[in-house]
Amino acid sequence: MTTAQRIDLNNITVYVEEGLDAVGERAAEVFCAALDEAPTASFGFATGSTPVCMYQDLIKRYNAGTLDMSGIKAFNLDEYYPIQKTNDQSYEYFMSTELFNHVNVDPANRDIPNGEAADPEAECARYEAAVRATDNYKLQILGIGENGHIGFNEPTDTFPAKTNHVDLTASTIEANARFFDSIDDVPTQALTMGVGTIMQAEKILLIATGPKKSQIIADCLVGGITPHVAGSALQLHRDVTVVLDADAAQELLARL
Ligand code: PGA
Repeated sequence: MTTAQRIDLNNITVYVEEGLDAVGERAAEVFCAALDEAPTASFGFATGSTPVCMYQDLIKRYNAGTLDMSGIKAFNLDEYYPIQKTNDQSYEYFMSTELFNHVNVDPANRDIPNGEAADPEAECARYEAAVRATDNYKLQILGIGENGHIGFNEPTDTFPAKTNHVDLTASTIEANARFFDSIDDVPTQALTMGVGTIMQAEKILLIATGPKKSQIIADCLVGGITPHVAGSALQLHRDVTVVLDADAAQELLARL
């Protein structure tokens, strides 16, 4: 595919694409290149509206017979807490309906923090151990919150090293209320990979679209490195690809 624009920032390659279909295609291309290199590795998936364009492209490739995900282990960044897996707003449900029901990831090889766990701290420890036990954590897909969170690592004074049980900030609850009948239905807590967990992936693929992400993308990629903007930690990762649409790229391009 042709690229609208490519920017190389040391360890970070940024693609700016025209429109959601092109963002999805570029992101899927990055994913598939990693999958080709390591067809039996672990891959970390993300929820939210942003990666949907990429998942649609992956489903197209699967239907065309050019994508085989049968060998991978699939992890997920985060899950609301508490939440039933059958709740149509759970991330378990989202991943099934948006991707996994349409491709050939082995259900036995899918893991996501369990929003139904009786003991959330024990569940975080279980999940962290499962991610760290994988010998080839090839690629982690990320969206970004308007407050800079990756996973649900909200602004705080220290980078969370491990999977943790967090309180969501008012701004995240407000941002996610669009998916629920009412803001009162949005869970106020989550279980999320820590920034340290995410940073273990060999490659990171960050996707952001729309004007609401423009400021925070610039802060993450060329601003100061601070746990108040969790995504700024990506400046310290060795291999990051960022796929943006023109709206999300605006402030970054202005600062370069
Ligand atoms: P969004 O969420 O893709 O729905 O914008 C991203 C995030 O909060 O990480």
